[in-house]
Amino acid sequence: MLQQFNPANKDLKVYIDGEMLHRDEAKISVFDSAVQGGDAVWEGIRVYNGRVFSLEPHLDRLFDSAHAMLFSGIPTREEVRTAIFKTLRANNMRDGVHIRLTLTRGKKITSGMDPRLNQAGCTLIVLAEHKPPVYPPSIKLATSSVRRNSPMSIDSKIHHNNLINNILAKIEANNTGAHAGLMLDKDGYVSEANGVNVFAIRRGVVYTPHADYCLPGITRATVLQICADNGIPAQEKRLSLTEFYTADEVFTTGTMGELTRVESIDARKIVNKHNTSVLDRLNGLFAELTRTQGVEF
Ligand SMILES: Cc1ncc(COP(=O)(O)O)c(C=O)c1O
Repeated sequence: MLQQFNPANKDLKVYIDGEMLHRDEAKISVFDSAVQGGDAVWEGIRVYNGRVFSLEPHLDRLFDSAHAMLFSGIPTREEVRTAIFKTLRANNMRDGVHIRLTLTRGKKITSGMDPRLNQAGCTLIVLAEHKPPVYPPSIKLATSSVRRNSPMSIDSKIHHNNLINNILAKIEANNTGAHAGLMLDKDGYVSEANGVNVFAIRRGVVYTPHADYCLPGITRATVLQICADNGIPAQEKRLSLTEFYTADEVFTTGTMGELTRVESIDARKIVNKHNTSVLDRLNGLFAELTRTQGVEF
């Protein structure tokens, strides 16, 4: 799952604060808050078939995150939407596209932690790349020693750029040959993997941890909505590692990789004791949504 350079992205044009810049020229200031303190919020968004999928929920989360961080000089929703569409058109992108949308607290007048040093408003970056879903058909997880943040430290409801605990979990997973690190909450219950939400299917019921520690993922919410719309029982619940090890099916969700089957966790193979796959059904229903829904640009 180590991503490779895609030559189709050689001459990308990147949006930074109103300008479209070649990827080699697309730079932000050393005084920018993202550089100084990871003081930024972000979204990963996908484009299918000429439509931006789940655009409004992503914008909701971006603006909620920026509001919770008390950013000032935040661009309007219309400005962000326009910046996304402008970037997609400038790169002639229609399908198989991943957008990394970043909003930083902006440039500081001098280095320092104090947000009062930010007097120029936010920096908006739209980086769109040709990037079909990046995960293989099934992945291995390894439980990490790094715990997912609790609201006592950084609330996971803010989709911020302070990703170091997740990166440490990913390093641990890399070192064991797993594709992603499974992160527990402070009480030892499963929270999420380092960059994706997790689900377990047991006897036909779809379970996922409460979004207390994990990011409230847009794909996670989409899967729960698919279940509600199609009479598939689903529940948010505190779940232990053992309940994941012994599930019939386990999968991850995220914009980057959509729904991905988990084949093993900590060397425990996930064995389906039934001859039907709820995950296959969910995958079909999700593909139907990405084929038919989204905002045209
Ligand atoms: C820590 C973490 N969990 C889960 C997700 C998946 O969220 P979404 O479905 O909104 O892409 C992400 C994606 O950014 C993430 O960073």
